[in-house]
Amino acid sequence: MSISSFLTKKFLKSLFFPAHNRGEALPNKLVKLLKNPPGYWDLPELPEIGSPLSQSGLISKSQREFSDKFGAKGCFFGVNGASGLIQSALIAMASPGETILMPRNVHISVIKICAMQNINPIFFDLEFSSETGHYKPITKIWLKNIFKKINFNEKKIAGVILVSPSYHGYAGDLESLIDLCHQKNLPVLIDEAHGSYFLFCENLDLPKSALLSNADLVVHSLHKSLNGLTQTAVLWYNGNLVDEHNLIKSINLLQTTSPSSLLLSSCEESIKDWLNKKSLSKYQKRILEAKKIYKKLVKKNIPLIETQDPLKIVLNTSKFGIDGYTADKFFYRHGLIAELPEMMTLTFCLGFANQRDFLNLFEKLWKKLLLNSQKLKSLKVLQSPFKLVQAPEIEIGIAWRSKTSNIPFSQSLNKISGDIICPYPPGIPLLVPGEKIDLDRFNWIKNQSLFNKDLVNFYIRVL
Ligand SMILES: Cc1ncc(COP(=O)(O)O)c(C=O)c1O
Repeated sequence: MSISSFLTKKFLKSLFFPAHNRGEALPNKLVKLLKNPPGYWDLPELPEIGSPLSQSGLISKSQREFSDKFGAKGCFFGVNGASGLIQSALIAMASPGETILMPRNVHISVIKICAMQNINPIFFDLEFSSETGHYKPITKIWLKNIFKKINFNEKKIAGVILVSPSYHGYAGDLESLIDLCHQKNLPVLIDEAHGSYFLFCENLDLPKSALLSNADLVVHSLHKSLNGLTQTAVLWYNGNLVDEHNLIKSINLLQTTSPSSLLLSSCEESIKDWLNKKSLSKYQKRILEAKKIYKKLVKKNIPLIETQDPLKIVLNTSKFGIDGYTADKFFYRHGLIAELPEMMTLTFCLGFANQRDFLNLFEKLWKKLLLNSQKLKSLKVLQSPFKLVQAPEIEIGIAWRSKTSNIPFSQSLNKISGDIICPYPPGIPLLVPGEKIDLDRFNWIKNQSLFNKDLVNFYIRVL
Protein backbone atom coordinates (compact mmCIF):
# COMPACT_ATOMS: atom_id res chain seq x y z
CA MET A 1 0.00 0.00 0.00
CA SER A 2 1.29 3.49 -0.76
CA ILE A 3 1.35 6.29 1.80
CA SER A 4 -1.24 8.18 -0.21
CA SER A 5 -3.69 5.28 -0.14
CA PHE A 6 -3.25 4.88 3.60
CA LEU A 7 -4.01 8.56 4.17
CA THR A 8 -7.64 8.04 3.27
CA LYS A 9 -8.11 4.98 5.51
CA LYS A 10 -11.24 5.29 7.65
CA PHE A 11 -11.19 4.78 11.40
CA LEU A 12 -14.28 4.65 13.53
CA LYS A 13 -12.97 7.40 15.80
CA SER A 14 -9.68 9.32 15.55
CA LEU A 15 -8.68 10.73 18.90
CA PHE A 16 -5.12 11.71 18.11
CA PHE A 17 -3.22 14.78 16.89
CA PRO A 18 -3.66 16.80 14.76
CA ALA A 19 -6.53 18.09 16.85
CA HIS A 20 -8.67 19.08 13.87
CA ASN A 21 -9.94 15.47 13.87
CA ARG A 22 -9.16 14.56 10.27
CA GLY A 23 -10.42 17.84 8.89
CA GLU A 24 -13.71 18.02 10.77
CA ALA A 25 -12.60 21.02 12.82
CA LEU A 26 -10.41 22.79 10.27
CA PRO A 27 -11.16 26.52 9.91
CA ASN A 28 -13.74 27.19 7.15
CA LYS A 29 -11.36 29.39 5.21
CA LEU A 30 -8.74 26.67 5.05
CA VAL A 31 -11.31 24.12 3.92
CA LYS A 32 -12.32 26.53 1.17
CA LEU A 33 -8.69 26.95 0.15
CA LEU A 34 -8.19 23.19 -0.06
CA LYS A 35 -11.20 22.87 -2.36
CA ASN A 36 -9.33 24.76 -5.06
CA PRO A 37 -7.64 22.71 -7.79
CA PRO A 38 -5.03 20.52 -6.05
CA GLY A 39 -1.74 22.32 -5.55
CA TYR A 40 -2.96 25.61 -7.01
CA TRP A 41 -2.28 27.29 -3.70
CA ASP A 42 1.28 25.96 -3.33
CA LEU A 43 3.05 29.28 -3.93
CA PRO A 44 6.63 30.37 -3.26
CA GLU A 45 7.62 33.37 -1.15
CA LEU A 46 6.15 35.99 -3.49
CA PRO A 47 6.62 39.60 -2.33
CA GLU A 48 2.91 39.95 -1.51
CA ILE A 49 3.12 37.01 0.93
CA GLY A 50 6.67 37.33 2.28
CA SER A 51 7.89 34.98 5.02
CA PRO A 52 7.73 34.88 8.83
CA LEU A 53 10.88 37.03 8.93
CA SER A 54 9.91 39.60 6.27
CA GLN A 55 9.25 43.20 7.20
CA SER A 56 6.30 43.40 4.81
CA GLY A 57 3.76 41.12 3.14
CA LEU A 58 0.69 39.27 4.33
CA ILE A 59 2.50 37.02 6.81
CA SER A 60 4.20 39.93 8.52
CA LYS A 61 0.90 41.84 8.67
CA SER A 62 -0.90 38.89 10.18
CA GLN A 63 1.83 38.27 12.77
CA ARG A 64 1.70 41.98 13.70
CA GLU A 65 -2.09 41.92 14.13
CA PHE A 66 -2.02 38.82 16.33
CA SER A 67 0.81 40.20 18.50
CA ASP A 68 -1.07 43.46 19.00
CA LYS A 69 -4.21 41.57 19.86
CA PHE A 70 -2.49 39.74 22.72
CA GLY A 71 -0.14 42.51 23.80
CA ALA A 72 2.96 40.59 22.67
CA LYS A 73 6.04 42.29 21.27
CA GLY A 74 5.88 40.00 18.27
CA CYS A 75 5.26 36.50 16.98
CA PHE A 76 6.54 34.21 14.24
CA PHE A 77 4.69 31.44 12.44
CA GLY A 78 6.61 28.19 12.04
CA VAL A 79 6.33 25.23 9.67
CA ASN A 80 8.63 22.78 11.46
CA GLY A 81 6.37 22.13 14.41
CA ALA A 82 6.76 23.43 17.91
CA SER A 83 10.08 21.53 17.80
CA GLY A 84 11.64 23.96 15.32
CA LEU A 85 10.53 27.08 17.17
CA ILE A 86 11.52 25.71 20.58
CA GLN A 87 14.99 25.12 19.18
CA SER A 88 15.21 28.65 17.77
CA ALA A 89 13.96 30.09 21.06
CA LEU A 90 16.54 28.13 23.01
CA ILE A 91 19.51 29.26 20.95
CA ALA A 92 18.25 32.83 21.19
CA MET A 93 18.47 32.52 25.00
CA ALA A 94 21.79 30.69 25.31
CA SER A 95 25.08 30.75 23.43
CA PRO A 96 27.28 27.65 23.11
CA GLY A 97 28.84 26.80 26.47
CA GLU A 98 26.07 28.50 28.46
CA THR A 99 23.63 26.75 30.75
CA ILE A 100 19.84 26.39 30.70
CA LEU A 101 17.77 25.19 33.61
CA MET A 102 15.09 22.70 32.59
CA PRO A 103 12.71 20.12 34.03
CA ARG A 104 13.01 16.40 33.45
CA ASN A 105 9.97 16.41 31.19
CA VAL A 106 11.40 18.59 28.40
CA HIS A 107 10.67 17.55 24.84
CA ILE A 108 13.44 15.81 22.89
CA SER A 109 13.81 18.85 20.59
CA VAL A 110 15.41 20.69 23.53
CA ILE A 111 17.99 17.98 24.08
CA LYS A 112 18.82 17.77 20.38
CA ILE A 113 19.56 21.49 20.11
CA CYS A 114 21.60 21.39 23.34
CA ALA A 115 23.71 18.60 21.82
CA MET A 116 24.08 20.46 18.56
CA GLN A 117 24.93 23.85 20.07
CA ASN A 118 26.88 22.75 23.15
CA ILE A 119 24.30 24.28 25.46
CA ASN A 120 24.51 22.67 28.89
CA PRO A 121 21.30 21.54 30.53
CA ILE A 122 20.88 21.53 34.27
CA PHE A 123 17.92 19.30 34.93
CA PHE A 124 15.59 19.60 37.85
CA ASP A 125 13.37 16.78 38.94
CA LEU A 126 9.60 17.03 39.21
CA GLU A 127 7.18 15.34 41.54
CA PHE A 128 6.42 11.94 40.12
CA SER A 129 3.24 9.91 40.54
CA SER A 130 3.83 6.18 40.88
CA GLU A 131 0.09 5.72 40.40
CA THR A 132 0.19 7.10 36.85
CA GLY A 133 3.89 7.16 35.93
CA HIS A 134 3.45 10.87 35.11
CA TYR A 135 5.27 13.95 36.32
CA LYS A 136 3.14 16.35 38.31
CA PRO A 137 3.09 20.08 37.55
CA ILE A 138 5.71 22.18 39.26
CA THR A 139 4.77 24.48 42.13
CA LYS A 140 6.37 27.70 43.30
CA ILE A 141 7.67 26.01 46.48
CA TRP A 142 9.25 23.27 44.36
CA LEU A 143 11.01 25.83 42.13
CA LYS A 144 12.18 27.82 45.15
CA ASN A 145 13.82 24.67 46.52
CA ILE A 146 15.51 24.09 43.21
CA PHE A 147 16.87 27.64 43.18
CA LYS A 148 18.24 27.09 46.70
CA LYS A 149 20.29 24.16 45.38
CA ILE A 150 21.93 26.24 42.67
CA ASN A 151 24.88 28.53 43.21
CA PHE A 152 23.99 31.34 40.82
CA ASN A 153 27.36 33.06 41.44
CA GLU A 154 29.33 30.02 40.39
CA LYS A 155 27.13 29.03 37.46
CA LYS A 156 25.80 31.57 34.98
CA ILE A 157 22.35 30.41 33.97
CA ALA A 158 21.17 31.90 30.67
CA GLY A 159 17.48 31.03 31.07
CA VAL A 160 14.80 28.59 32.13
CA ILE A 161 12.46 26.33 30.17
CA LEU A 162 9.18 25.08 31.57
CA VAL A 163 6.67 22.70 29.99
CA SER A 164 3.06 23.59 30.65
CA PRO A 165 0.65 21.95 30.19
CA SER A 166 2.23 18.51 29.93
CA TYR A 167 1.26 16.08 27.18
CA HIS A 168 -1.49 14.76 29.45
CA GLY A 169 -2.74 18.21 30.36
CA TYR A 170 -1.26 18.80 33.83
CA ALA A 171 -0.64 22.48 34.47
CA GLY A 172 0.18 24.66 37.47
CA ASP A 173 0.26 28.37 38.13
CA LEU A 174 2.76 29.69 35.61
CA GLU A 175 2.63 33.32 36.63
CA SER A 176 4.20 32.72 40.04
CA LEU A 177 6.92 30.50 38.52
CA ILE A 178 7.78 33.04 35.86
CA ASP A 179 7.83 35.78 38.48
CA LEU A 180 10.33 33.79 40.54
CA CYS A 181 12.62 33.42 37.51
CA HIS A 182 12.29 37.11 36.65
CA GLN A 183 13.37 38.03 40.18
CA LYS A 184 16.68 36.43 39.20
CA ASN A 185 16.65 38.16 35.83
CA LEU A 186 16.26 34.84 34.06
CA PRO A 187 14.27 34.77 30.80
CA VAL A 188 11.64 32.01 30.63
CA LEU A 189 10.63 29.95 27.62
CA ILE A 190 7.33 28.16 28.07
CA ASP A 191 6.75 25.10 25.93
CA GLU A 192 2.97 25.44 25.71
CA ALA A 193 2.76 23.07 22.74
CA HIS A 194 -0.29 21.42 24.31
CA GLY A 195 -2.04 24.57 25.51
CA SER A 196 -2.42 26.99 22.58
CA TYR A 197 -6.18 27.27 23.04
CA PHE A 198 -5.89 28.52 26.64
CA LEU A 199 -5.03 31.90 25.13
CA PHE A 200 -8.56 32.26 23.77
CA CYS A 201 -10.55 30.94 26.73
CA GLU A 202 -10.03 33.10 29.77
CA ASN A 203 -13.59 32.45 30.92
CA LEU A 204 -13.59 28.65 31.07
CA ASP A 205 -11.58 27.99 34.20
CA LEU A 206 -8.61 26.73 32.20
CA PRO A 207 -4.96 27.37 33.10
CA LYS A 208 -3.89 30.95 32.40
CA SER A 209 -2.04 31.12 29.10
CA ALA A 210 1.75 31.52 29.30
CA LEU A 211 1.59 34.62 27.12
CA LEU A 212 -0.72 36.30 29.65
CA SER A 213 1.49 35.11 32.51
CA ASN A 214 4.49 37.27 31.50
CA ALA A 215 6.57 34.58 29.81
CA ASP A 216 9.38 35.93 27.62
CA LEU A 217 9.02 33.25 24.97
CA VAL A 218 6.04 30.97 24.35
CA VAL A 219 5.78 28.22 21.75
CA HIS A 220 2.42 26.85 20.63
CA SER A 221 1.96 23.74 18.54
CA LEU A 222 -1.00 24.76 16.41
CA HIS A 223 -1.72 21.21 15.26
CA LYS A 224 -1.73 19.79 18.78
CA SER A 225 -3.78 22.35 20.62
CA LEU A 226 -5.48 24.48 17.97
CA ASN A 227 -6.98 23.46 14.64
CA GLY A 228 -3.91 23.86 12.42
CA LEU A 229 -2.39 21.38 9.97
CA THR A 230 0.48 19.17 11.12
CA GLN A 231 3.80 21.06 11.51
CA THR A 232 2.16 24.43 12.18
CA ALA A 233 3.35 26.39 15.21
CA VAL A 234 3.82 29.90 16.52
CA LEU A 235 6.43 31.54 18.74
CA TRP A 236 5.42 34.61 20.77
CA TYR A 237 7.88 36.91 22.53
CA ASN A 238 7.68 39.64 25.10
CA GLY A 239 9.77 41.69 27.55
CA ASN A 240 13.41 42.73 27.30
CA LEU A 241 15.28 39.71 28.60
CA VAL A 242 15.69 38.05 25.20
CA ASP A 243 17.36 40.06 22.46
CA GLU A 244 14.98 40.48 19.52
CA HIS A 245 17.80 40.41 16.99
CA ASN A 246 19.07 37.13 18.46
CA LEU A 247 15.62 35.66 18.08
CA ILE A 248 15.33 36.66 14.43
CA LYS A 249 18.84 35.33 13.76
CA SER A 250 17.99 32.03 15.45
CA ILE A 251 14.77 31.54 13.51
CA ASN A 252 16.61 32.35 10.31
CA LEU A 253 19.27 29.78 11.15
CA LEU A 254 16.88 26.86 11.46
CA GLN A 255 14.01 27.80 9.16
CA THR A 256 13.65 26.35 5.67
CA THR A 257 14.15 28.80 2.81
CA SER A 258 10.92 27.47 1.28
CA PRO A 259 8.20 27.54 3.95
CA SER A 260 4.98 25.99 2.69
CA SER A 261 2.36 28.61 1.81
CA LEU A 262 -0.35 26.13 2.77
CA LEU A 263 1.09 25.65 6.25
CA LEU A 264 1.62 29.37 6.73
CA SER A 265 -1.95 29.99 5.73
CA SER A 266 -3.01 27.30 8.20
CA CYS A 267 -1.05 29.10 10.97
CA GLU A 268 -2.96 32.28 10.19
CA GLU A 269 -6.39 30.69 9.81
CA SER A 270 -6.23 28.58 12.96
CA ILE A 271 -5.51 31.67 15.08
CA LYS A 272 -8.02 33.83 13.19
CA ASP A 273 -10.68 31.18 13.63
CA TRP A 274 -10.39 31.47 17.41
CA LEU A 275 -10.64 35.25 17.18
CA ASN A 276 -13.91 34.94 15.30
CA LYS A 277 -16.80 35.22 17.77
CA LYS A 278 -18.99 32.56 16.16
CA SER A 279 -16.26 29.93 15.86
CA LEU A 280 -14.96 30.73 19.32
CA SER A 281 -18.32 30.11 20.88
CA LYS A 282 -18.54 26.78 18.99
CA TYR A 283 -15.13 25.68 20.32
CA GLN A 284 -15.91 26.88 23.82
CA LYS A 285 -19.08 24.79 23.75
CA ARG A 286 -16.98 21.77 22.78
CA ILE A 287 -14.63 22.37 25.69
CA LEU A 288 -17.62 22.46 28.05
CA GLU A 289 -18.95 19.28 26.42
CA ALA A 290 -15.54 17.64 27.00
CA LYS A 291 -15.79 18.51 30.70
CA LYS A 292 -19.20 16.85 30.79
CA ILE A 293 -17.87 13.73 29.04
CA TYR A 294 -15.19 13.42 31.72
CA LYS A 295 -17.72 13.75 34.53
CA LYS A 296 -20.11 11.21 33.01
CA LEU A 297 -17.34 8.65 32.50
CA VAL A 298 -16.11 9.08 36.06
CA LYS A 299 -19.68 8.57 37.28
CA LYS A 300 -19.67 5.26 35.44
CA ASN A 301 -16.58 4.26 37.44
CA ILE A 302 -14.23 4.42 34.48
CA PRO A 303 -10.79 5.15 35.94
CA LEU A 304 -9.93 8.56 34.46
CA ILE A 305 -7.22 10.84 35.74
CA GLU A 306 -8.08 14.48 36.24
CA THR A 307 -5.88 16.99 34.45
CA GLN A 308 -6.28 20.69 33.70
CA ASP A 309 -6.93 20.12 29.98
CA PRO A 310 -10.51 18.93 29.37
CA LEU A 311 -9.62 17.84 25.84
CA LYS A 312 -7.42 15.02 27.12
CA ILE A 313 -9.09 11.87 28.37
CA VAL A 314 -6.48 10.00 30.41
CA LEU A 315 -7.49 6.43 31.19
CA ASN A 316 -5.70 4.78 34.10
CA THR A 317 -5.68 1.24 32.70
CA SER A 318 -3.25 0.11 35.42
CA LYS A 319 -6.05 0.39 38.00
CA PHE A 320 -7.39 -2.80 36.42
CA GLY A 321 -4.01 -4.45 35.84
CA ILE A 322 -3.85 -3.56 32.15
CA ASP A 323 -0.88 -1.70 30.68
CA GLY A 324 -1.57 1.23 28.33
CA TYR A 325 0.04 -0.45 25.30
CA THR A 326 -2.22 -3.50 25.52
CA ALA A 327 -5.25 -1.24 25.93
CA ASP A 328 -4.11 0.85 22.96
CA LYS A 329 -3.86 -2.22 20.71
CA PHE A 330 -7.33 -3.31 21.79
CA PHE A 331 -8.94 0.09 21.11
CA TYR A 332 -7.05 0.34 17.79
CA ARG A 333 -8.37 -3.04 16.66
CA HIS A 334 -11.88 -1.76 17.37
CA GLY A 335 -11.38 1.47 15.45
CA LEU A 336 -10.94 3.86 18.37
CA ILE A 337 -7.50 5.33 17.84
CA ALA A 338 -5.82 6.92 20.87
CA GLU A 339 -2.90 9.36 21.07
CA LEU A 340 -0.55 8.23 23.80
CA PRO A 341 -0.08 4.74 25.26
CA GLU A 342 2.16 4.46 28.31
CA MET A 343 2.83 1.84 30.92
CA MET A 344 0.04 2.82 33.32
CA THR A 345 -2.26 4.92 31.14
CA LEU A 346 -3.75 5.55 27.73
CA THR A 347 -4.46 9.15 26.66
CA PHE A 348 -7.05 10.17 24.08
CA CYS A 349 -7.12 13.60 22.48
CA LEU A 350 -10.70 14.75 21.90
CA GLY A 351 -9.71 17.57 19.53
CA PHE A 352 -12.07 20.30 18.41
CA ALA A 353 -14.70 18.33 16.49
CA ASN A 354 -18.01 17.25 17.93
CA GLN A 355 -17.53 14.14 20.12
CA ARG A 356 -21.09 13.27 21.07
CA ASP A 357 -20.68 9.66 19.90
CA PHE A 358 -17.48 9.11 21.91
CA LEU A 359 -19.00 8.42 25.29
CA ASN A 360 -21.05 5.34 24.49
CA LEU A 361 -18.44 3.82 22.20
CA PHE A 362 -15.73 4.34 24.80
CA GLU A 363 -17.79 2.84 27.61
CA LYS A 364 -18.73 -0.16 25.50
CA LEU A 365 -15.13 -0.87 24.46
CA TRP A 366 -13.76 -0.34 27.96
CA LYS A 367 -16.18 -2.94 29.32
CA LYS A 368 -15.21 -5.33 26.54
CA LEU A 369 -11.52 -4.78 27.27
CA LEU A 370 -12.08 -5.56 30.95
CA LEU A 371 -13.83 -8.79 30.06
CA ASN A 372 -11.28 -9.90 27.50
CA SER A 373 -7.86 -9.01 28.79
CA GLN A 374 -5.50 -10.67 31.19
CA LYS A 375 -4.90 -8.62 34.31
CA LEU A 376 -1.32 -8.23 35.51
CA LYS A 377 -0.86 -8.21 39.25
CA SER A 378 2.60 -6.69 39.20
CA LEU A 379 1.98 -3.60 37.09
CA LYS A 380 4.09 -1.03 38.90
CA VAL A 381 6.13 1.89 37.63
CA LEU A 382 9.29 2.67 39.55
CA GLN A 383 9.86 6.09 41.10
CA SER A 384 11.93 8.33 38.78
CA PRO A 385 15.62 8.05 39.72
CA PHE A 386 16.72 11.68 39.53
CA LYS A 387 18.33 14.03 42.01
CA LEU A 388 16.47 17.31 42.55
CA VAL A 389 19.12 19.14 40.52
CA GLN A 390 21.45 17.23 38.24
CA ALA A 391 23.68 17.86 35.23
CA PRO A 392 25.05 15.16 32.91
CA GLU A 393 28.44 13.76 34.03
CA ILE A 394 29.97 14.84 30.71
CA GLU A 395 28.86 17.88 28.70
CA ILE A 396 26.08 16.87 26.37
CA GLY A 397 27.71 18.29 23.23
CA ILE A 398 30.99 16.54 23.98
CA ALA A 399 29.28 13.22 24.71
CA TRP A 400 27.20 13.54 21.54
CA ARG A 401 30.32 14.00 19.40
CA SER A 402 32.42 11.37 21.19
CA LYS A 403 33.36 8.02 19.76
CA THR A 404 30.77 5.47 20.91
CA SER A 405 30.08 1.78 20.67
CA ASN A 406 26.70 0.17 20.25
CA ILE A 407 25.90 -2.37 22.98
CA PRO A 408 22.77 -4.08 24.33
CA PHE A 409 21.21 -1.92 27.04
CA SER A 410 21.41 -4.90 29.39
CA GLN A 411 25.24 -4.49 29.35
CA SER A 412 25.32 -0.73 29.82
CA LEU A 413 25.33 -0.46 33.63
CA ASN A 414 27.66 2.32 34.87
CA LYS A 415 28.60 3.41 31.35
CA ILE A 416 28.15 6.95 30.00
CA SER A 417 25.46 7.32 27.37
CA GLY A 418 26.27 8.76 23.96
CA ASP A 419 22.60 8.44 23.00
CA ILE A 420 19.24 9.98 23.68
CA ILE A 421 16.87 7.28 24.92
CA CYS A 422 13.44 8.61 24.25
CA PRO A 423 10.30 6.59 23.48
CA TYR A 424 7.94 8.55 21.23
CA PRO A 425 5.29 9.55 22.09
CA PRO A 426 5.60 11.30 24.51
CA GLY A 427 9.11 12.30 23.37
CA ILE A 428 10.48 12.88 26.87
CA PRO A 429 14.08 11.60 27.16
CA LEU A 430 14.79 9.00 29.84
CA LEU A 431 18.52 9.44 29.32
CA VAL A 432 20.60 12.04 27.44
CA PRO A 433 24.16 12.02 26.10
CA GLY A 434 26.73 12.44 28.87
CA GLU A 435 24.57 10.91 31.60
CA LYS A 436 25.70 7.90 33.59
CA ILE A 437 23.56 4.77 33.48
CA ASP A 438 23.74 4.14 37.20
CA LEU A 439 21.83 1.33 38.88
CA ASP A 440 18.72 3.40 39.61
CA ARG A 441 18.50 4.69 36.03
CA PHE A 442 19.22 1.22 34.65
CA ASN A 443 16.43 -0.36 36.69
CA TRP A 444 13.98 2.44 35.93
CA ILE A 445 14.45 2.08 32.17
CA LYS A 446 14.45 -1.73 32.41
CA ASN A 447 11.15 -1.58 34.29
CA GLN A 448 9.53 0.49 31.53
CA SER A 449 11.01 -1.64 28.76
CA LEU A 450 8.88 -4.57 29.94
CA PHE A 451 5.97 -2.90 28.20
CA ASN A 452 7.24 -0.38 25.66
CA LYS A 453 8.18 -1.97 22.36
CA ASP A 454 10.65 0.89 21.62
CA LEU A 455 12.62 -0.34 24.60
CA VAL A 456 12.45 -4.12 24.14
CA ASN A 457 15.95 -5.60 23.71
CA PHE A 458 17.21 -2.24 22.53
CA TYR A 459 20.81 -1.21 21.91
CA ILE A 460 22.45 1.91 23.20
CA ARG A 461 25.54 3.87 22.10
CA VAL A 462 27.92 4.38 25.02
CA LEU A 463 31.22 6.25 25.35
C1 LIG B 1 5.65 19.07 25.29
C2 LIG B 1 5.95 19.06 23.83
N1 LIG B 1 6.64 20.07 23.30
C3 LIG B 1 6.94 20.12 22.00
C4 LIG B 1 6.55 19.13 21.14
C5 LIG B 1 6.89 19.22 19.68
O1 LIG B 1 5.78 19.58 18.96
P1 LIG B 1 5.71 19.43 17.37
O2 LIG B 1 5.26 18.04 17.09
O3 LIG B 1 4.70 20.47 16.95
O4 LIG B 1 7.06 19.70 16.83
C6 LIG B 1 5.85 18.03 21.65
C7 LIG B 1 5.47 16.92 20.76
O5 LIG B 1 5.09 15.86 21.13
C8 LIG B 1 5.52 18.00 23.01
O6 LIG B 1 4.84 16.98 23.55
